[in-house]
Amino acid sequence: MKNLISWDDRLTIDGDAIDADHKHIIEIINRFLAKVGDFQSAEELVAILEDLQGAAHDHFRREEELQRIIKYPDRDIHFTEHQRLSAKLEKLIEESRPTGGSYVNVMGHKVSDFIHEWLFSHILKSDMKMKPFVKRAGIKPVAKSANAAKNDNPNDNKNISDNSLSEKRIISA
Ligand SMILES: [Fe+2]
Ligand SMILES: [Fe+2]
Repeated sequence: MKNLISWDDRLTIDGDAIDADHKHIIEIINRFLAKVGDFQSAEELVAILEDLQGAAHDHFRREEELQRIIKYPDRDIHFTEHQRLSAKLEKLIEESRPTGGSYVNVMGHKVSDFIHEWLFSHILKSDMKMKPFVKRAGIKPVAKSANAAKNDNPNDNKNISDNSLSEKRIISA
């Protein structure tokens, strides 16, 4: 199956950790979609869903932290959406575990509906609503921030490699 979505610059939110997370999540989604209808075992399906669960867990935490920093007005609604997506994914994983034979692929299609909802209702709608607020707050990638330029500490740029968020990223406009 063709990739459902490819990363493109219009999806940029912060030019940093959040974008890196979304790229990673999209890569897992595309890996999943390439296998829909062709899963050979429940383990194969569950392994991809657990990758997605791990990536989502870290990503939701980072996104919620960014929203707190920029005082994003809809963060309660957004948090509830994250909770709902996490709970639904957990349920789908538990439902997938005992499947076997052709039922794995019935389950795969069910998961596919959920993935579409996640991508189109959450990432492309709810997450993108954050973009003007991130811009207004003056969020810049760590490597390009004034703080990073002023700081000689080579560890200052580790925020990029470990994808963590830092309040240092906020510089006044
Ligand atoms: Fe997100
Ligand atoms: Fe989100």
